[in-house]
Amino acid sequence: MNAAEKSVSTLIGIPTQRPTSWWLETLRKRAERMYDEHLDLSKPVAFESEDERRACIKFFNAAYRAEESGKAGAHKLAEEVRPWDPDLAECLVLYGNEEGWHRELLDEFLAHIGGGVTAMGRMTKTFYDVYGKAERLESIMLTNLMFETIGATTYRLSLRRVKQPLARQVLVILTRDESFHVPLNVHFIREILKHHPERSRARLKAIYQAVFHSLILLSLASRKVAQPFDRVTWKELTSAYVENLGRLFVNEPDLDFQPPRHLLAAFGMTRGGLRSAGEPDSISVAAAEAAARREDVQVTPL
Ligand SMILES: [Fe+2]
Ligand SMILES: [Fe+2]
Repeated sequence: MNAAEKSVSTLIGIPTQRPTSWWLETLRKRAERMYDEHLDLSKPVAFESEDERRACIKFFNAAYRAEESGKAGAHKLAEEVRPWDPDLAECLVLYGNEEGWHRELLDEFLAHIGGGVTAMGRMTKTFYDVYGKAERLESIMLTNLMFETIGATTYRLSLRRVKQPLARQVLVILTRDESFHVPLNVHFIREILKHHPERSRARLKAIYQAVFHSLILLSLASRKVAQPFDRVTWKELTSAYVENLGRLFVNEPDLDFQPPRHLLAAFGMTRGGLRSAGEPDSISVAAAEAAARREDVQVTPL
């Protein structure tokens, strides 16, 4: 096959993107039944040790902060987007509400295990301070998408070994919903770039690199505090982060962000290998459709 033939795709008919109206309708349907789902707080949570309980509190505190910043970011962006696309703004509001609901669940769970929301560690605080200062819509959305990706990765990995039923219930809810949020955030980025075609891709690529490296550092720091609860090793967590952050855009030629080669090499991965991994893309419309109806989603550990 010559180069010209190769450039003609034989794939037909599969939608790779959905219009805002599809996302809005899906989010509205999700909102109708969201508050009907409750945590089973009927029994006390038994931990094997005080160490495990403390690590569990730290683990879900980190999740709480991610939900909190996700909600605030989405609602702030909604107001900026509203003048030029009210439907997209409504999507952002409903998305922010889902994060707000997650935060409420975490609040209840933390209270139930005798924890609560604690002050952030120094490194985490620095990270959120930098995120809070990001002003451009597309920068905030890209950072958010990467947060969602590592959130979904951490929760799914934790499901491998966490046995406690209530903690598992929380992890399943978060994993399931973040899998829908990942492709949703890609839709937000695309719409914002369509509205602001002048915005530099080079700048976004630099953000992708910076956030990628910061998240890998955060994964190292999290092992010290959360491992007695989730029992995920440093190597498992960090290589899953590198792989999932690296795979985010491999099949999206219009969002051509390249994962850092040295990090891939350090974990024995290559860009070509990520591209042909054969698993469904987490940011694809197919992934969104599979995760859209909460009641149909089967969550499997990573
Ligand atoms: Fe969430
Ligand atoms: Fe989310």
